[in-house]
Amino acid sequence: MDNDKVFIFDTTLRDGEQSPGATLNIQEKLEIARQLAKLGVDIIEAGFPFSSPGDFEAVKLISKEVQGPVICGLARARKEDIDKAVGALEPAKKKRIHTFIATSDIHMEHKLKMPREKVLKTAVECVSYAKQFTDDIEFSPEDAGRSDPKFLFEILQAVIEAGATTVNIPDTVGYTVPSEFGGLIKSIKENVPNINKAVISVHCHNDLGLAVANSLSAVINGARQVECTINGIGERAGNCSLEEIVMILKTRPILGLYTNIDSTQIYRTSRLVSTLTNMLVQPNKAIVGANAFAHEAGIHQDGFLKYKRTYEIMNPEDVGLLTSKLPLGPRSGRHALKEKLTELGYHLSEEQLDKAFIRFKEIADKKKQVADRDLESIVRDEQRIQETVSYYELANLQIACGTGLPTASVCLRRTSDNVFLKDSALGTGPVDAIYKAINKLVNVQNELIEFSVQSVTEGIDALGEVTIRIKEKDGAIYSGHAANTDITLACAKAYLNALNKLIDSLNAGTKVAPQADEFKSKKGV
Ligand code: KIV
Ligand code: ZN
Repeated sequence: MDNDKVFIFDTTLRDGEQSPGATLNIQEKLEIARQLAKLGVDIIEAGFPFSSPGDFEAVKLISKEVQGPVICGLARARKEDIDKAVGALEPAKKKRIHTFIATSDIHMEHKLKMPREKVLKTAVECVSYAKQFTDDIEFSPEDAGRSDPKFLFEILQAVIEAGATTVNIPDTVGYTVPSEFGGLIKSIKENVPNINKAVISVHCHNDLGLAVANSLSAVINGARQVECTINGIGERAGNCSLEEIVMILKTRPILGLYTNIDSTQIYRTSRLVSTLTNMLVQPNKAIVGANAFAHEAGIHQDGFLKYKRTYEIMNPEDVGLLTSKLPLGPRSGRHALKEKLTELGYHLSEEQLDKAFIRFKEIADKKKQVADRDLESIVRDEQRIQETVSYYELANLQIACGTGLPTASVCLRRTSDNVFLKDSALGTGPVDAIYKAINKLVNVQNELIEFSVQSVTEGIDALGEVTIRIKEKDGAIYSGHAANTDITLACAKAYLNALNKLIDSLNAGTKVAPQADEFKSKKGV
């Protein structure tokens, strides 16, 4: 094996999705998994199949649809968990089962209530059991960072003997410091006699802000797989951030290590994960934050303009941030738009380009310059519209608000029979009024559980990107997104995007979709 390569194990869809509020639906997980494959990650931990039917289905769909990376499913050290992981991973060409059990005294005594011998026996039995289904087995001694190293050496030797091909060392609670964690990896190399039969992996949490530093110290000391997430999302303070560890290894060749990541896909992946999880990236976040490549102080700008290396250690282009040499504006034509989208990595069909061009012109008429981020937002918006079956489309929206009572009048086109439905409602504000008016027309019970508006670029004329999440009465969650310079329009469209998904799932499943006469609506425009 090439000993300078560091394998990138992405756990955005498993540990990342454990971030409070970051719930993703199956289609969103698939979209992220496809982008992770483009990014070039080696392994995608697609979920924890035993944890819920939704996770099981997501792992199964990703196993079927996503080629390239190894697809991994998490399982506690229990046969039922492993069986579920096996079922979900069944369609995958390259699959990995990742099984874990806690090994720190604090976890064994208070959580598992198991003595060391039982934990060791369970770990070995589960690794041997999983080995019947695939050769590629990863074992994690949970809370390794706080485990007795002697016990750790013993259990690692035993699971490698039983067939584990990767042994992952988690700092589950983000407690260790770099010298200590690096030392632990070194001691594992020195004290586990069969360690050369497995890859040493690390999985660091960020409770003390040290997840990346600890992972780096681990690879310097011999680990060759890093478990990480896009934007560093994950349980509590999150996990090691993929973009940071990857760019450290790329920017500092002195370390003599490399990854397979196509770094030019980093920015796009970060934006996708941020939009779909609705977890904003802080502006000063390394690599992908809005200010990561901005030079504000005069003295810095002066130096940068004279020689960019004075203040820039990485090229923005290397992470996929294209600094527009020629920003598009109201006079730019279809050809210029096509060229710019190709440069940004979007290859649209002629029909998609026509639609994107109409949207582009609308925005260009309102803004002097259309930024790359605006274009990405338009394209993603159009892709979403095409991916979602459209039962209702927004035909017209009128808002009255100010010091009086906010009112919204909405006209929707029902696509099944091309009937236009109109109604209006009062609300506590314009958005509330829009949602109430739409609810009168589309009588599908749901609860609005999340609503956010984010500006795509700076400036008063910026596009507003709206993300909403609604919950159906059986608990299923549907998200909706839309972007527009008029945020009330974006709100209405985002809500319809989510409602269309909900109705589609009613139609696809055994549940019955609401019939036309169930809609308390008025016909005619
Ligand atoms: O943090 C942790 O210990 C985990 C394990 C399941 C690897 O997420
Ligand atoms: Zn974790």
